[in-house]
Amino acid sequence: MKKRYLVTAALPYANGPLHIGHLAGAYLPADIYVRYLRLMGRDVVFVCGSDEHGAAITVKARKEGTTPQAIVDKYHAILRDTFEKIGISFDIYHRTSAPIHHATSQDFFRKLNKNGEFIEETTEQYYDETAGQFLADRYIVGTCPVCANPEAYGDQCERCGSTLSPTDLIEPKSMLSGSVPVKRPTKHWFLRLDKHEAWLREWINTGKVDGKQLHHPADWKNHVLGQCNSWLDQGLQPRAMTRDLEWGVDVPPEIPGSEGKKLYVWLDAPIGYISATKQWAQDHGKNWELYWKNPDTRLVHFIGKDNIVFHCLIFPAILKAHGDFILPVNVPANQFLNLEGRKLSTSKNWAVWVHEYCAEFAGQEDALRYNMIKKMPEQSDSEFTWKGFQETNNNELVNNLANFVNRVLVLSHKYYGGIVPSVNPDLPVKSGWEADKAGQYNEELATLHKKLEEMNAHIEHFNFREALRVVMEISGAGNALLQFNEPWKMEKTDPDTVRVVMNLSLQFVAVLSVAIRPFLPFSAARLRNMLGLPALHDNGELLDILNELVEGNPIVQPNHALGQPEHLFSRIPDEVIQKQIDKLNATDLANQATTREDHPATINYKPVKETIQYDDFSKLDIRTGTILTAEKVEKSKKLLKLSVDLGFETRTILSGIAEHYTPEEVIGRQVIVLANLAPRVMMGSESAGMILMAEDADGKLSFVSPAADWPNGMGVS
Ligand code: 2FM
Ligand code: ZN
Repeated sequence: MKKRYLVTAALPYANGPLHIGHLAGAYLPADIYVRYLRLMGRDVVFVCGSDEHGAAITVKARKEGTTPQAIVDKYHAILRDTFEKIGISFDIYHRTSAPIHHATSQDFFRKLNKNGEFIEETTEQYYDETAGQFLADRYIVGTCPVCANPEAYGDQCERCGSTLSPTDLIEPKSMLSGSVPVKRPTKHWFLRLDKHEAWLREWINTGKVDGKQLHHPADWKNHVLGQCNSWLDQGLQPRAMTRDLEWGVDVPPEIPGSEGKKLYVWLDAPIGYISATKQWAQDHGKNWELYWKNPDTRLVHFIGKDNIVFHCLIFPAILKAHGDFILPVNVPANQFLNLEGRKLSTSKNWAVWVHEYCAEFAGQEDALRYNMIKKMPEQSDSEFTWKGFQETNNNELVNNLANFVNRVLVLSHKYYGGIVPSVNPDLPVKSGWEADKAGQYNEELATLHKKLEEMNAHIEHFNFREALRVVMEISGAGNALLQFNEPWKMEKTDPDTVRVVMNLSLQFVAVLSVAIRPFLPFSAARLRNMLGLPALHDNGELLDILNELVEGNPIVQPNHALGQPEHLFSRIPDEVIQKQIDKLNATDLANQATTREDHPATINYKPVKETIQYDDFSKLDIRTGTILTAEKVEKSKKLLKLSVDLGFETRTILSGIAEHYTPEEVIGRQVIVLANLAPRVMMGSESAGMILMAEDADGKLSFVSPAADWPNGMGVS
């Protein structure tokens, strides 16, 4: 029986377009995984859709003088088209405004309510007397209690990333009328997360529920486990699952007190995965329940790190509380991608918008995909730069992959009129895998098989950067095969050996035409054309070639007629890149002007400390590291207890950053550590080192961030 998978990618809010951070965070990894599964002949459904609810949408509609419906219609269409243009191969891209979704979410509420999973509680919430409305989440702004950002939202501070509730804000103000809100009592339904803490802890850390092994925690990413445990360690509290809102899914009308109440995002957006699957099943005559209720199905959620807690704790609690649903087998969340040294920001327009890229770089979609995969923030935050993008395109895609393919096809046309030559497999050639090594035809095919297995293993473990590296190794070895054997010098004198070299090179290209498809689907299609091979239908073709190669059989047969060569990738010139950099510089200037108007800055620099000698400095052993886990230190306002991977060992370090960062925000961060500071005991724990931070004039601490990914344990001097 085919292995069955249900793969989800986070539902993006339909209040803005897609940027490269979204792409690298959730959609591209999900797409690679799904395309791979299909090529391996697995049964897979890939669902996503627009999240069309939430206060941000209503606030945007008010600002633009239009309706929430108009906003979601506009952005749903933009998002759907952008995903298609950049090749994200959803089986369905649904929307949460669909009636089937409202009905599914309401049924969840009913079932949970019936199962006694909620407590109803009346609490004091902010109310705008001018607008006559309660102010949840994004309807309210104020000063962040953590970083003093004066524009923090009621649910989150975008500057420091802290999760907030409206009552945490200092000097709150209504986004609707600008007035100061008052507190009024209101009743809501709270999910008893506390009841679920024990099994969630066991499930996360052992993979077991009721004695059944559902997953292996060793397969989960460290930073995902770290974030979950840091939440679990603080104890799970009941969480409101409803809001006083006008826009969203109604609490089922038959429930007493439901008037004016809407379901909160966590009883809405992730249930969108289920309603999307239902719609897909209806459209294709399939059974949706097989994908959500059969324990043989592997459910995998692709998300960014801001959604970890919801997909690893809250949504599983909802699924389990419902009773009939399976739990995710993995949640391979990614960290964040930065842009030219700074955090991507929709509100500051500090972004590369994917729809703009697709318009300006039409036909070069795979160049962006390639760079995004190379830079994928799999274990720690990473960075996109336009120069880096140009380099990976010109040096790797053009010089390695496109160059190899072009040489093979041009030479095959030149020597054999575009017909695959037959070979004498006993004639040795120089191997492309290793200099000065003889390779037999069958051995070279066996190595291709081994490399594909290596690529597959990386994909199965969600290591997409590594998988792509293996693909490029195949292309590099193909190039070396030509380079070492120099067929252009031997064609006249030793045509038989040249036939082996060229036939083998064509096998490399044929393997690549399948292997690159999860990563570079547009180029894979072009490559199939150039080879005169049938288009791929994502129907087990990778499995087929593995089966051929393991038997020592070639992928393209002698006498097969090749298609015409064309350029797979083209160089991106400096001026094209400069135009993009200029665009970002203009955004930067505009932002600086706004900041100056809003907050005229006077920085008081601290005096420089007494001069030291180089010898004093050289005593410091400063290293790069990554924070693996973080937790608050009991009875301390300032300290976070961190475990930091220094490459050669993992240290416990207590750091005075708790007033600036929450534990969730720091897990996975790359940091600079003073590694030979004498250990000190603080609040009962020993701290072995110090995290270096930058401090601004107001005393706000920020991490010293890498410009590129750092291996842990590198010396800094
Ligand atoms: O955080 C977000 O972007 C929300 N739209 C929820 C995404 S995850 C979900 F779909 F479950
Ligand atoms: Zn803040």
